[in-house]
Amino acid sequence: MLSEHSQKHHNGEVRVAVQTLWTWLLPAMVTARVLPNLGDGLDEPICRTYTLDELLYLDCSDRGLTELPDKLNYDAQALLLSNNNFVSFPVELSNFSQVEILDLSGNRLTSPLPTFLRKFQNLHTLNLSNNNYDSWLSSDTEYNIKRLDLSKNKINSIDIKAFASMPNLSILDLSENRIYDLPPTVFADANNLDILILSRNYFSEVPNFQTQSLRSLSLSNCQIANINAGSLTGMSSILTIDLSMNQIESLPDGIVSNTLQELDLSYNEISVLTDRTFSALPHLAVLDLRGNEFRDVWSTSHFASNPYLREVHVKGNRWSCEGFNVNLLLTYEYLTKDPPKIADRASLICYSPSNVTQLSWQQAYILTWHPNETSMQSYTMMAVFVGIIIGIVITSCVCRGLMSINKPETPRATTETSGINGITTQPRVESVIMRIPLTEDLPPSYDEALLMPRLNASFHSLPDFVDDEDTFDRQCRRSRSIGDLTEPRPRVGERRSIRRTVEIRIN
Ligand SMILES: *[C@@H]1O[C@H](CO)[C@@H](O)[C@H](O)[C@H]1NC(C)=O
Ligand SMILES: *[C@@H]1O[C@H](CO)[C@@H](O)[C@H](O)[C@H]1NC(C)=O
Ligand SMILES: *[C@@H]1O[C@H](CO)[C@@H](O)[C@H](O)[C@H]1NC(C)=O
Ligand SMILES: *[C@@H]1O[C@H](CO)[C@@H](O)[C@H](O)[C@H]1NC(C)=O
Repeated sequence: MLSEHSQKHHNGEVRVAVQTLWTWLLPAMVTARVLPNLGDGLDEPICRTYTLDELLYLDCSDRGLTELPDKLNYDAQALLLSNNNFVSFPVELSNFSQVEILDLSGNRLTSPLPTFLRKFQNLHTLNLSNNNYDSWLSSDTEYNIKRLDLSKNKINSIDIKAFASMPNLSILDLSENRIYDLPPTVFADANNLDILILSRNYFSEVPNFQTQSLRSLSLSNCQIANINAGSLTGMSSILTIDLSMNQIESLPDGIVSNTLQELDLSYNEISVLTDRTFSALPHLAVLDLRGNEFRDVWSTSHFASNPYLREVHVKGNRWSCEGFNVNLLLTYEYLTKDPPKIADRASLICYSPSNVTQLSWQQAYILTWHPNETSMQSYTMMAVFVGIIIGIVITSCVCRGLMSINKPETPRATTETSGINGITTQPRVESVIMRIPLTEDLPPSYDEALLMPRLNASFHSLPDFVDDEDTFDRQCRRSRSIGDLTEPRPRVGERRSIRRTVEIRIN
């Protein structure tokens, strides 16, 4: 049994002999929808027949064929002859008058379309990708082809009337060829041309094509360095242009198109926009400027004439937030709010200066001009956090809390003495009141002590507690560390001041 691999290296006679044998022995099988694999003794069939999407397929791809086998099913609606060795269109093709899809990609064709294809009224897709065409010539015969794939050839010249013979042509793929330039009117007669793919060629500027019908043009990866203000004026229906991965360094003032909606300028070398750049694109809706050389944060006025702008991509630029003017904030808001236009908000980050690297435009602005607002937020966060901890401590020492309720005595003095110049921190006093009965001379637990502001600085001022433990309190007190107990006793003068303060408050 011949393996796939050895088949490809068997040319001519052997192959034809096998084919002939096959078709002789099993003529009935040829017309079957799918030829069964008849065991180890026989090679796979040259062509397989099957039905897909209600189309009858005849698949003879990857067979190293130089001509078509005899007695194929000429009713096939899709004929796949890709990756063979055809150097010209096989004459037997003329028998396939029902064909709708003809795939001859991956061969070595150089010849113009055979005239018999004219009769194929159903032929809508012709795939000639990856062949050896170096030019595409005009023809006197009209074809019904709607979709023509000429990608991956070596085409460098196209006749000015080449596509006039395909009035129904809608999608044309000329990517990966060697086109440096095209006459502006080359597609003018293809009245139904909708999508044109010219990526991976060698244009140096955006060609000013004349076409009434074209809606989508791809010129990505074409080494284009120039686009003129009038480059798009000849395309009166254009909606989408892909100019990504070129070498455009600057955009002209006022690129004109009354219809353009999507402009892809990603991965170029553009560094500046002005208020006039997009001023003549009234329907611009999607703008891709990823991977360019922008540093200066844009101004919202750049988009004043683009009321329909809804999607902007800016990732991969190195924004400088230098200056920190309010424009930073306005543009940030314009792009992120009402409605958000930026797909990836995280791409609005400062690259320089170094003190705000990785911060968003908004953060950089606020940090520079309103540093208190952000710190207020963090204070609030801290207060909430402290509050939670206090809550936990309260519940963890219920016994102490109960006791203080029974004998309420303000510990205000404690905090008061601890504060400089008697300034107290009111919110904390409330919680401490519950737990520190100073008349009993009971000290706070270790946990409580931690919570009391600046308490350790004035630990000496606390009442004399070490020797006054009562039995009720002992359990709770167990948690205290030895260190607490060995602290020096408070000084007498301070104790007095505590008691005095407490008395004043009670009165
Ligand atoms: C198929 O086409 C070839 C060449 O045009 C022709 O000689 C042959 O008779 C055709 N076969 C059938 C079955 O129509
Ligand atoms: C043409 O064939 C190539 C390779 O076989 C394939 O990648 C491409 O999608 C085909 N084009 C069309 C229009 O079917
Ligand atoms: C183009 O399409 C129309 C409508 O589908 C059809 O009538 C016409 O014959 C086609 N043109 C060619 C050259 O096949
Ligand atoms: C960062 O440095 C710039 C000077 O380069 C200064 O104007 C700005 O205020 C600084 N911003 C912050 C948040 O420190």
